[in-house]
Amino acid sequence: MKPTQPHPRDDVTSVVRASPNGEGSSSGTISRSKPIALITGATSGIGEACARRFLVGGYDVIATGRNAEKLSALSSEFPGRVTIVVADLENPEALRALIRDVVARHVYLDVLVNAAGVIGFDTVAGIRVEDLNRMMTLNVTTPVMLLQGCLPLLEAAKGAVVNVSSVAGTRAFPGIFSYCLSKAAIDQATRCAALELAARQIRVNAVNPGVIVTELHRRGGMADEAYRAFLEKAKSTHPIGRPGEPEEVAEAIWFLGTPASSFITGVTLAVDGGRAETCLR
Ligand SMILES: NC(=O)c1ccc[n+]([C@@H]2O[C@H](COP(=O)([O-])OP(=O)(O)OC[C@H]3O[C@@H](n4cnc5c(N)ncnc54)[C@H](OP(=O)(O)O)[C@@H]3O)[C@@H](O)[C@H]2O)c1
Repeated sequence: MKPTQPHPRDDVTSVVRASPNGEGSSSGTISRSKPIALITGATSGIGEACARRFLVGGYDVIATGRNAEKLSALSSEFPGRVTIVVADLENPEALRALIRDVVARHVYLDVLVNAAGVIGFDTVAGIRVEDLNRMMTLNVTTPVMLLQGCLPLLEAAKGAVVNVSSVAGTRAFPGIFSYCLSKAAIDQATRCAALELAARQIRVNAVNPGVIVTELHRRGGMADEAYRAFLEKAKSTHPIGRPGEPEEVAEAIWFLGTPASSFITGVTLAVDGGRAETCLR
């Protein structure tokens, strides 16, 4: 892991207090000492690696997921640095409560990483509306509403948003129809939000990973044997010759989330060992 990168605003002692309803801002100045990142999906895979990357990099982290044990373990590893919010983000009330909680406790937010997500396996011929809705809810609606809810805090910090999309957002794959739709939608949400929020000095980018070794596919219903074969096949479908690791995606998220990328917004960055560049032949 790279050494801690100093944050250019570490020594900033005043920021504008944002109003909780997101309409404007005011009421004087607030001391701030540490950058803060809100990370969804912080209990597993890419989100968990990302939480560790930002903690090691000197950020305090608001970590959210459903698995309370995993969140407690992360908090014990970094005492006093992690705020835990256990929430099922498919539930709109839980999402609203998370936003209320974050806005009530914080006056700025440097980074929002939308890493929570689900995959399902379906085809256009066999699509089930409940599966489509579930993927659209968690992979699109939740990140967008979280961004909206955190706008005043992001503006106060001149912050950055990183959405975890997929190579399935930029390329078509058979057998993951709803997932491809949801990832294409979050890519477009990334670009549209980037344009709308640039004047407020909020940057919005996405990473588009190829196959990364996490729990995603097995949770989506892929059997262990099929998953082993899928990872084996990833050695040939990814020009670099292997699937990726969550830490490799976290490093790209770190770059897009921190001032190292201060002039980059609206980008969907492939983190896929060349996967998106391939064509069947
Ligand atoms: N792995 C890949 O090959 C790959 C490739 C491209 C893109 N991605 C994207 O990367 C992101 C992270 O996936 P991953 O691979 O790291 O998978 P993962 O290991 O399964 O992690 C998924 C995370 O999402 C959270 N989550 C799922 N449903 C939730 C819900 N209803 N409420 C709150 N949190 C929920 C999980 O929290 P709990 O464990 O606490 O339930 C977990 O932290 C996803 O958006 C995925 O589409 C993954």
